[in-house]
Amino acid sequence: IGVAILISGAGSNMVALAESMTGDHPARPVLVLSNRPDAAGLDRARDMGIPTACVDHRLFGGDRAGFEAEMLRHLEAASPDLICLAGFMRILTPGFVSRFEGRMLNIHPSLLPKYRGLDTHARAIAAGDTEAGCTVHEVVPDLDAGPVLGRMAVPIAPDDTAQTLAARVRAAEHDLYPQVLRGVAESLRDAA
Ligand code: GRF
Repeated sequence: IGVAILISGAGSNMVALAESMTGDHPARPVLVLSNRPDAAGLDRARDMGIPTACVDHRLFGGDRAGFEAEMLRHLEAASPDLICLAGFMRILTPGFVSRFEGRMLNIHPSLLPKYRGLDTHARAIAAGDTEAGCTVHEVVPDLDAGPVLGRMAVPIAPDDTAQTLAARVRAAEHDLYPQVLRGVAESLRDAA
């Protein structure tokens, strides 16, 4: 099972996923693809010996179709069985998403369906919530709306800031995403 991981930044989720795909795990990382040439995750992927590519969305201006066509070129060359969005911060068009429907996962830093979109931690704190968390879901055309594959809750402490909460949620992400990926990869293998 080949897995392509899409990133935009630090890539800590990408590292957690890549490090989990060892031994009898049916999946292996085949590509790390970033929309930002300065994404630190690209260096971390190279250090791990994972093929990388970059499609700088800023070179395409508002031409989303052109950006996605170039992304698709890299993805088709790697021909992954699964795509994991991991801190990928571009919204993908329905056309792109539908090509991978059922085979594209995303991790979102809230307990969906609460707090779709951005600034999830500040919103949970502002709402006075006592717990937050992360969700892995299948990617569908509507943003952060696909079938939920797994969730992990963490407590919100009274003195939490968005930063301290984000750190706690990110630690949970690094547990949850590899767990969910393993389950999905095993069911793909067993279905083959
Ligand atoms: C994570 O908090 C993830 O939930 C969100 O963006 C962040 C990515 O961090 N989508 P990293 O690039 O995986 O370190």
